[in-house]
Parts: sequence; structure tokens; C-alpha cells
Amino acid sequence: MTEENRQFKQVTCTINGKKRSTVVDVRASLTDMLRNDYRLTSVKKGCEVGECGACTVLIDGEAFDSCIYLAIWAEGKNIVTLEGLDGPNGELSDIQQAFISENAIQCGFCSPGFILSAKEILETGVLYTDDELRKLLSGHLCRCTGYENILRAVKKTMYKRLGKELPPELAESETRPIS
Ligand code: FES
Ligand code: FES
Repeated sequence: MTEENRQFKQVTCTINGKKRSTVVDVRASLTDMLRNDYRLTSVKKGCEVGECGACTVLIDGEAFDSCIYLAIWAEGKNIVTLEGLDGPNGELSDIQQAFISENAIQCGFCSPGFILSAKEILETGVLYTDDELRKLLSGHLCRCTGYENILRAVKKTMYKRLGKELPPELAESETRPIS
């Protein structure tokens, strides 16, 4: 397609609580719109074919791979990226804090995607088993292979939100200093 034949379209949507509007190439991915037009660099570019989960964002509360979601499909949608989880003064949410306390972040490339999927999972209010959590998080790859700590972070936040007593293996890390 030549430069003259390119088609552009205006996309208006809500991003992290604010109404935003921009003009995009109709072939652009939501990843590119969020990173290039709004500088939301927590949205990572990994495989760009919907395999690794690094580009995950919430669209109307549901986790999607933004690399395989056209920017123009975001018209009228409510988009949340990791930047949208911070409190008004930059406070971390409970799930972000749990990723730190459980040492679930190594290089951090996969972390925004995992955390946004965890947000969707936690908001169901269901007490999932380990196997169920593993399955729900299976759309994400961690090249640093920190899967066990990531599972612990999600599980710990789930127990806390539901007001349940932490299982012994999770209670122990409550008193461990953050390294
Ligand atoms: S970058 Fe989108 S799934 Fe890998
Ligand atoms: S922490 Fe490095 S890819 Fe997951």
C-alpha cells in the first residue's frame, strides 16, 4: 500500500479513566496506539502474534492481547493499562505490591501483562485452586521463568481480598523482609 493509499481513522476511547482521542492508521494495533500515541510503555511488545501476553491490557474489564487487537476496535471502549492501577499519589495496588513482596518480578518484561490478567481474575471474587490459577494465567510467558513466585503473588492477593486466612506457605512471606 502506497503512502497516498493509507487510511486513517479517529479513535475515541477511555484510557485509564480519561477520555482520549487520536487518529490512527486503520492497520495499527492497539499496542502501537497505546505506546506511540499515549506513551503507555507498560504495554510491552513481545511476540506480536498473541502468544506471550506481554501486551495484555484490559478492555471493558477483560484481558486481551493488544498486539492482535486493532486500534480502531477500541472505539468507545474502556481501556486499562498498568499505569491505570496506581493510586492518585502513585500508590501501588495490592496486586502490584504482592508481586514485589513475593519477588515475582525479575526483568519485569512480563509483569504488566501478568498483573492485568491477575486483576481480571481477582475481580471475579472466586477462590481458585492453584491448578485453576495456573490455567487462568497460562496465556503469559515469563522468560525469566518466575512462575512460582507469580502464582504466589496472585494467590496471596486472592486470599487477602476474600478475607481468608493465608495458607502457611503464604503467611511466611508476610514477615520476610523484601529483598
Ligand atoms: S506481544 Fe502480544 S501476545 Fe506477545
Ligand atoms: S520477569 Fe522477566 S520475563 Fe518475566
